[in-house]
Amino acid sequence: MNVNAKDVIIACDFASAEQTLAFLDKFEGESRKPFLKIGMELYYAAGNEIVREIKRRGHKIFLDLKLHDIPNTVRKAMKVLSALDVDMVNVHASGTIEMMKAAKEGLTREDGTRPLLIAVTQLTSTSQEAMQSQLLIGATINDTIAKYAQNTKEAGLDGVVCSPLEAALVKEACGQEFMTITPGIRFADSSTDDQVRITTPEKARAIGSDYIVVGRPITAADDPVAAYRRCVAEFLNE
Ligand code: C5P
Repeated sequence: MNVNAKDVIIACDFASAEQTLAFLDKFEGESRKPFLKIGMELYYAAGNEIVREIKRRGHKIFLDLKLHDIPNTVRKAMKVLSALDVDMVNVHASGTIEMMKAAKEGLTREDGTRPLLIAVTQLTSTSQEAMQSQLLIGATINDTIAKYAQNTKEAGLDGVVCSPLEAALVKEACGQEFMTITPGIRFADSSTDDQVRITTPEKARAIGSDYIVVGRPITAADDPVAAYRRCVAEFLNE
């Protein structure tokens, strides 16, 4: 496991294996193999086949399926995902500490190894207003995020997905070693798309992000390889 190994993760939000592989072909010959995120759209469209093909090409994979079910079901599902040999998987922290512990048990292989396991606190699309009026959670969104992150740590997981603007709050609540994986990244001069709570790669690092997840600023760029290199340079200061 690479706890606290800082890196840029490209969100491969494509609808098919063909589109994904055509995108990855552009990175042939790059000395740094991008770490990739496969989310629900691509996984439900192309399944384990695309996961294996991307692994075969030598990329690390964050399989972003956000599991949330009864502990027994999550334990068994994680056992299946563990056999896929991905590098990072996740659950919803709102599934409770018991569910997160079960996820870790299921993920841990007989030899004691396992992919990194992280939890989603509150989705960045959930506003404080919606959380309070629809979910009847009376606390503030920041207190909720800090508490869910502490629950995640107590369950023995490695970190959380959060907005880069929340990374410092999470580190304060859970310590510097606890990982933050942050989407919502935009270059200072690029479109924000539908993201609201955003920051630049450079600022994300300064606030405390360990991994940044970047989709459209790279996938929709005229030159995705150049955009990826820029992101790495800004985030890792290389
Ligand atoms: O294209 P963009 O850079 O906005 O992509 C961000 C990626 O991170 C998408 O795959 C999105 O689903 C994911 N994500 C997010 N906010 C969260 C959790 C995941 O943007 N809270």
